[in-house]
Amino acid sequence: MQLKSFVATAIFAQGIHAAAVLRFGCSEVVVERLDPLVNPGVNPSPHVHQVTGGNAFASSVALSDVSQIANCTTCSFSEDLSNYWTANLYFKARNGSYKRVPQIPNRFLDGEVGGMTVYYTSAYDNSKVTAFKPGFRMLAGDVNQRAPGGITKWNAICFRCYNAPNFGGDNQAPCADKTVDSVTLPAKACPGGIRTTIRFPTCWDGKNLDSPDHKTHVSYPASGTFETSGPCPSTHPVKLPQLMFEIIWDTTAFNDKSTWPADGSQPFVLSMGDSTGYGQHGDYIFGWKGDALQKAMDSSCFGATCNQLKSQSFADANKCAVPDTVQEKINGWITELPGM
Ligand SMILES: *[C@@H]1O[C@H](CO)[C@@H](O)[C@H](O)[C@H]1NC(C)=O
Ligand SMILES: *[C@@H]1O[C@H](CO)[C@@H](O)[C@H](O)[C@H]1NC(C)=O
Repeated sequence: MQLKSFVATAIFAQGIHAAAVLRFGCSEVVVERLDPLVNPGVNPSPHVHQVTGGNAFASSVALSDVSQIANCTTCSFSEDLSNYWTANLYFKARNGSYKRVPQIPNRFLDGEVGGMTVYYTSAYDNSKVTAFKPGFRMLAGDVNQRAPGGITKWNAICFRCYNAPNFGGDNQAPCADKTVDSVTLPAKACPGGIRTTIRFPTCWDGKNLDSPDHKTHVSYPASGTFETSGPCPSTHPVKLPQLMFEIIWDTTAFNDKSTWPADGSQPFVLSMGDSTGYGQHGDYIFGWKGDALQKAMDSSCFGATCNQLKSQSFADANKCAVPDTVQEKINGWITELPGM
């Protein structure tokens, strides 16, 4: 069975069993130029994001319990009122116009619209992880990165070039297979589309819900990786669940090389104007109800069902929406990337 083989390869590629892995879909809740983490109160913010999760998303979100502000979520776990957001991907035509690349759900997420697959993984060595606190937020990646270095040294963010239709070449854990994974946007046409994976820091200072750069209150492991049970640094001793995003772009309508730049370079660009991919980043505002996430992390739940959690159908999840307050053209052919 395809699902089983995906589970076996992508999650347990190292043969280590993690205690709990939530892997579930969150449809799009809004696509617009707002960023309550990096540019709170700024409307419009510098670049377009696709946003998923609860309907408390706005140009600013109070450092309080988001699960008390939101009333609905596009995530299939209905107690998850968090917000998850990333940049969008655009195709740049030879005449300089842009078109947003459509997204497709993961193969096991029938009914999801746009959006992403969200993972929360507890420790691979079965040690305790501490769920995020109300108000907690963080950023993974660096929007201004355009060269090797930075977060990419942890292989936390990468792109997978599916080498055949139906997620071809999806045999290894994210960022682990050099034949299909790269930290840059793939240089060649990908017959099955492109997936991006964003792994967040997994160590916390235990005190701050946020920090000025939205990163220094958290850390990647002091050595190794979360997957190899690398220890947290003494400055950030609290082990968090590993949050990971997966987004799949259906680039197949743009694979005709005669439409690519004449110099043979790849034609895709992230919504902040980055055609390298090094600037890929993900934003998170925690918003689970009560101790739901902690209960799930202490369980042995796997996938999108968990006895400890309440679920909803995508038919219901997809009814949740945030009004588009920016009101600008972001889909179809546009002559400039919004805000750029
Ligand atoms: C949630 O519902 C309450 C009560 O109906 C309402 O006041 C509030 O504005 C709603 N929140 C959102 C984000 O829609
Ligand atoms: C630019 O090129 C695309 C793809 O060929 C085309 O669909 C679009 O209409 C063009 N836009 C302009 C402004 O010429």
